Amino acid sequence: MTAPFGRGTRIAGTGRALPAEVVTNADLEKIVDTSDEWIVQRTGIRARHRAAEADTVFSLGRDALLKALDRAGVRADQLDMIIVATVSGEMLCPSTAARISEAVGAGEAAVFDLAAACSGFLYGLNLADTMIRCGRAERVAIIGVEVLTRLVDWNDRTVSIIFGDGAGAAVVVADPDPRKGCVHQTMHGDGRMWRTLYHPKCDRDVPAGDEANPIRLGHLRMHGREIYKFAVTRFQEAIQDALDRTGLKVGDVQQYICHQSNQRIIESAVEKLKLPPERVYVNIDRYGNTSAASIPICLDELYEAGRIEAGKPIILVAFGAGVTWASCVWNP
Ligand code: UT7
Repeated sequence: MTAPFGRGTRIAGTGRALPAEVVTNADLEKIVDTSDEWIVQRTGIRARHRAAEADTVFSLGRDALLKALDRAGVRADQLDMIIVATVSGEMLCPSTAARISEAVGAGEAAVFDLAAACSGFLYGLNLADTMIRCGRAERVAIIGVEVLTRLVDWNDRTVSIIFGDGAGAAVVVADPDPRKGCVHQTMHGDGRMWRTLYHPKCDRDVPAGDEANPIRLGHLRMHGREIYKFAVTRFQEAIQDALDRTGLKVGDVQQYICHQSNQRIIESAVEKLKLPPERVYVNIDRYGNTSAASIPICLDELYEAGRIEAGKPIILVAFGAGVTWASCVWNP
């Protein structure tokens, strides 16, 4: 299947950056009433990275981008656009993308942040592919980066066990072959479900009915079960739709890269759609749920390991707060 327009796109390089500190489930057992056994069984997570004082969305995003540029052989001043997918940036104004642009020397590249939570990187990748395909840009950098551990109440065991910090980046460039890059994409949202995961800073942010929520203002509030049910359904639908719309068979896909939210959510799609488990990448055990950073970190590890071959499609799917969800069938 070929996407519209006369040219395609290519991921020229990827990179990732993780804070040095690793918090294990045993460390969490000392803070809240939980256990390694419960966390592993319910989520698949064994450890996550946590930002130190000096680590920021800006610094992790910058470091991931510098690696991606280096691997791509692209100079920062050749970029037309930098998209930073994040919901945990230090400042709303200016965008984190603007500060990263200055730090890497990207000159007059367009810069903006994209707040689609865990779907943010895929939203950005889909936008980048479309911009390049239609000739409005030649080289676009997409960074997915979060320090959600700063937004978490460490005494709230329903949230603190899940999230981790990190960054991943990809540099996407034009390719003369229109069969390359994104050949199918979807981006969706359902604002009626925003209350399932939100970050209230003051009283007026709190939705009616949730005033008595014991989690303090300034910390993430999550209704995990509701998101879980939504995610299980959407993951399966998104993968099935991607296969149907491209005419691909389950076995034609070399890698399924799912947002690393909860291993059980990924496993339910594997079982339902009979996906070959060895082609469904999982690294949640080492990183936890890094939200917008999760898919680009997976991509970077797979490219680094030489596990993404040219000519064989990959399918990427994500869902997150908003709620949002997105998919992409990519021909490397
Ligand atoms: O990236 C998008 C953002 N978020 C997500 O993707 C999260 C999606 N949701 C989930 O991953 C799961 O819902 C959780 C991992 C958050 C929770 O797992 P669950 O299987 O849905 O547990 P639950 O909330 O239904 O709670 C089951 C029990 C409860 O105890 P009772 O009432 O049965 O006695 C909880 O109090 O487990 C208890 N519990 C815990 N126990 C030990 C909840 N959290 C913990 C914990 N350790 N950390």
